[in-house]
Amino acid sequence: MSLPFDLRANPKPRSAADRRAILAEPGFGLYFTDHMSVATWTSADGWHDSAVVPYGPFQLDPATAVLHYAQEIFEGLKAYRHADGSVWLFRPEKNADRFARSATRLALPVLPEADFLGSIEALVSADAAWVPGGTEPGSPEPAAVTTGEQSLYLRPFMFASEAFLGVRAAHRVTYACIASPAGPYFAKGVHPITIWISTTYTRAAPGGTGAAKCGGNYAASLVAQAEAAEHGCDQVMFADAAEHAWLEELGGMNVYLVTRDNELITPELTGSILEGVTRDSILTLAREFGLTPVERRVGVQELLDGLGSGQVTELFACGTAAVITPIGVIKHEGGEVTVGSGETGETTAALRKNLLDVQYGRAEDTHGGLRRVL
Ligand SMILES: Cc1ncc(COP(=O)(O)O)c(C=O)c1O
Repeated sequence: MSLPFDLRANPKPRSAADRRAILAEPGFGLYFTDHMSVATWTSADGWHDSAVVPYGPFQLDPATAVLHYAQEIFEGLKAYRHADGSVWLFRPEKNADRFARSATRLALPVLPEADFLGSIEALVSADAAWVPGGTEPGSPEPAAVTTGEQSLYLRPFMFASEAFLGVRAAHRVTYACIASPAGPYFAKGVHPITIWISTTYTRAAPGGTGAAKCGGNYAASLVAQAEAAEHGCDQVMFADAAEHAWLEELGGMNVYLVTRDNELITPELTGSILEGVTRDSILTLAREFGLTPVERRVGVQELLDGLGSGQVTELFACGTAAVITPIGVIKHEGGEVTVGSGETGETTAALRKNLLDVQYGRAEDTHGGLRRVL
């Protein structure tokens, strides 16, 4: 039986005027809606105490295990409003599946797919007015105009909430999903970013947690991101841990190369790369764009040589937050190289437009990825 996520309504929701002001300029990850979904797991009773409750702080004992041993996982997906006012998720089953795999890797309990989806749909229903692009109920004002890139970002997460300092899997775990309105990732339009290939730091090693979406991976990437910034770069690209010779991914995005012979290449999943939902959607779309999708090991030197010779024509990063981000310049210890003309490539732009058009209901959802919530 699925967990019930009944609404315990927030007695003090934000005023419609406050919400409108936030939705006019939400930024990313700054504001949160009036509610959150929660559930508790204990080794004795399994999953229970599920509900949609007023958004608010957790009270944590200082000995709470997650604060010491980082037994924690999370997900990221979006709710999109279509022109007719309806609200949709895009391939949320993939997030449920990855959440389950992350849980298994971090010795956390699996939240069944139906409960993962139920928690999200109940939260989006409770906070429907927070999905950008809607009309305010009872308001004489017209619906906010969407730029086609505003959404309600959803952040399901789970952590060891048992107060116990022994190093073992917690016997008490808290699950929650919070929601945050998000503006277009690129407020001034899409511009190619600059990437630093780090040979100092790695993100994940064979047998480690790279394929899981756990907080520790992101904590470990921050110093490398700072190194990238010191070199004037926007993002860091990680190579493999053993040889520093094979491309893996960015701190929060997967990577793709487009070649002169119309191959669309992405590093194969080795266990240390996060299996991105966007990465997978692009693999599926490739043939519709006359591209041959290829998953294989890609050498750092092969990339640099390919950019030099013109064999690699475009390079882009992809993930839920920024969809598809063109990469214009690669910097590394040995120098720097421009990708093509340094501008957004044609294939990159076309794939980006298609994904967004499907997510926002402007193009046919030929692969059946959309799931209606409202
Ligand atoms: C390390 C990492 N790689 C790749 C991705 C892209 O995954 P997705 O397309 O599912 O957002 C993300 C974002 O979730 C990430 O954090």
